[in-house]
Amino acid sequence: MATLHLCLVFFQISISTMASVSSASLKEGFYKTSCPSAEAIVRKAVNKAVSRNPGIAAGLIRMHFHDCFVRGCDASVLLDSTPGNPAEKENIANNPSLRGFEVIDEAKAELEAQCPQTVSCADIIAFAARDSAYKVGDINYKVPSGRHDGRVSHEDEPTQNLPPPFFDAKQLEENFALKGLSLDEMVTLSGAHSIGVSHCSSFSKRLYTFNATHPQDPSMDPKFARDLKAKCPPQLSSGNGGDPTVPLDVLTPNKLDNKYYKDLMNHHGLLTSDQTLLSSPTTVGIVRNHARNDAAWANKFAAAMVKMGSIDVLTGRQGEVRKNCRSNYANHRNLLGFLCYYVYNGVSSLAMPSLKAIVRNTVNKAVSRNPGLAAGIIRMHFHDCFVRGCDASILLDSTPGNLAERDSPVNKPSLRGFEVIFEAKAALEAQCPQTVSCADIIAFAARDSAYKVGGINYKVPSGRRDGRISRENEPILNLPPPTLNAQELEQRFAQKGLSLDEMVTLSGAHSIGRSHCSSFSKRLYTFNETNPQDPSMDPIFARDLKTKCPQNGGNDDPTVPLDVLTPHRLDNKYYTNLKKHHGLLTSDQSLLSSPSTVGIVRNNARHGETWANKFAAAMVKMGYIDLLAGSQGEIRKDCRFVN
Ligand SMILES: *[C@@H]1O[C@H](CO)[C@@H](O)[C@H](O)[C@H]1NC(C)=O
Ligand SMILES: *[C@@H]1O[C@H](CO)[C@@H](O)[C@H](O)[C@H]1NC(C)=O
Repeated sequence: MATLHLCLVFFQISISTMASVSSASLKEGFYKTSCPSAEAIVRKAVNKAVSRNPGIAAGLIRMHFHDCFVRGCDASVLLDSTPGNPAEKENIANNPSLRGFEVIDEAKAELEAQCPQTVSCADIIAFAARDSAYKVGDINYKVPSGRHDGRVSHEDEPTQNLPPPFFDAKQLEENFALKGLSLDEMVTLSGAHSIGVSHCSSFSKRLYTFNATHPQDPSMDPKFARDLKAKCPPQLSSGNGGDPTVPLDVLTPNKLDNKYYKDLMNHHGLLTSDQTLLSSPTTVGIVRNHARNDAAWANKFAAAMVKMGSIDVLTGRQGEVRKNCRSNYANHRNLLGFLCYYVYNGVSSLAMPSLKAIVRNTVNKAVSRNPGLAAGIIRMHFHDCFVRGCDASILLDSTPGNLAERDSPVNKPSLRGFEVIFEAKAALEAQCPQTVSCADIIAFAARDSAYKVGGINYKVPSGRRDGRISRENEPILNLPPPTLNAQELEQRFAQKGLSLDEMVTLSGAHSIGRSHCSSFSKRLYTFNETNPQDPSMDPIFARDLKTKCPQNGGNDDPTVPLDVLTPHRLDNKYYTNLKKHHGLLTSDQSLLSSPSTVGIVRNNARHGETWANKFAAAMVKMGYIDLLAGSQGEIRKDCRFVN
């Protein structure tokens, strides 16, 4: 029953998981199950704030714009400055004009009370912008969500990314194109200036010092300019009376509507970047259409807001869900944890090598003492990833009332190497508490084993988090028995998104390790009615095996090496064995018998280096199976227990 095969047990690779890891995918109703009231909580906070002060609606829409254009919609605009790092907030584009931070804070506090660390600050901004548009413009739309929050915010970046108020239509077009937005979307989104106010300093040049021939911008209605001059006296902001504000839309200053475009047609646009949309031949037609048809503009505005909300979003394993929108320190309990977290997650690579070195040193020490542990650890990674994904569920102890994966006959007593993982974890906790997940340690240790006994090295993408569930019945449902034939293996790999070639390539892990006789004794003694011995096994090899695995061996279940040629070396000799009909398990030898895999076996037997490269790539792919990331799961303190 017990098997020591490094089985062909790589199922459960879900394509969709891998896609969500690598590509940004937002979806409507993202919090439907994890935090059903998420959007209602944000809307309530926005409605309350905008009822008290309608200007907040403009502030929140502008906040979404300023967030998305700088490092993508990742709430970097919300982060407070830290010693030595002034944040986006401090940039002149945001300070002092950006408003509504307290609304986001209020919504976030309520969300944390109801659904801790579930709803990202970036999503809150996107919801709040939509709720603002609804509150002051009756423009409603669904906001795809699932953004993660960024960890970086730099004061100089708004300047590089946000269009200043003096841009002309051509410059605006180019600026929006850099963010993937069309000319039409640029003009459509400019309609957000139908609410809000502008500081006089943003357009006073148009009133007083336009150019050498015209002190006043001739594209501005002179009567409108006279009015503005009364509100914005010259030499403002230089110590005499500050920098007053005036409404961006004189017709309906607190209503989000198409009156902005009517202003432009009346030459009542406040900023150069507004009025230029009428002056430019490429945009004047769009302005006229929008001025004519409020409903059409509103629909386009909603669609463009959704598109803007997808700029460079962080999803899946990227970023995090902040606890406090102003600070990512709050996600890390102390300074040491904070530094460890940053280092481990690649913001700085300073200490990362030493963390990885802890795992490698531990593996090297253990495998030097007992080479069989390398096979055990690689097998552990397989058995972890195929059951609930690579989440270290394999390491959890059984608890009263719940038998864990470890106690499944698939794993007990054959699975080895637990003490290596636990030793590495203890050393890592001493250096960086709760930073490196047990799931990552297994993935590193499998790679380090492959290097130690096979010279196969590769980079292990990390950031997995540990699961909280482990069930004894699941390994048998997910891990293939050693009796499967090539067709059955192919089907099961295909179901899980792994190719036939990857299946055959990963089977090469059986070039190390041992198997209990019970996993293949049927091939020696009771194959079928006509052949007591499997005819696909070399008879001389079978005779040898019979001496090691007697038919009536009593309660003993001895072990023999899976690869007779180089039992302690991870190499392509496994495939040479198959060609000689020296494969131990049915699931090994059938790779030669099947027409669909025999060619791959021959190639792998011929080209050791090619196989090693393919093996490394397939191990990395396996390491992505159903992983937990972001706010899912946890970083266990002790790999045997949930926190
Ligand atoms: C000043 O601006 C007007 C209108 O844009 C333009 O026609 C004129 O050539 C400009 N004068 C100078 C000196 O740039
Ligand atoms: C026994 O196995 C051999 C080889 O796979 C096969 O040719 C034969 O038909 C089998 N006999 C029975 C009774 O299944």
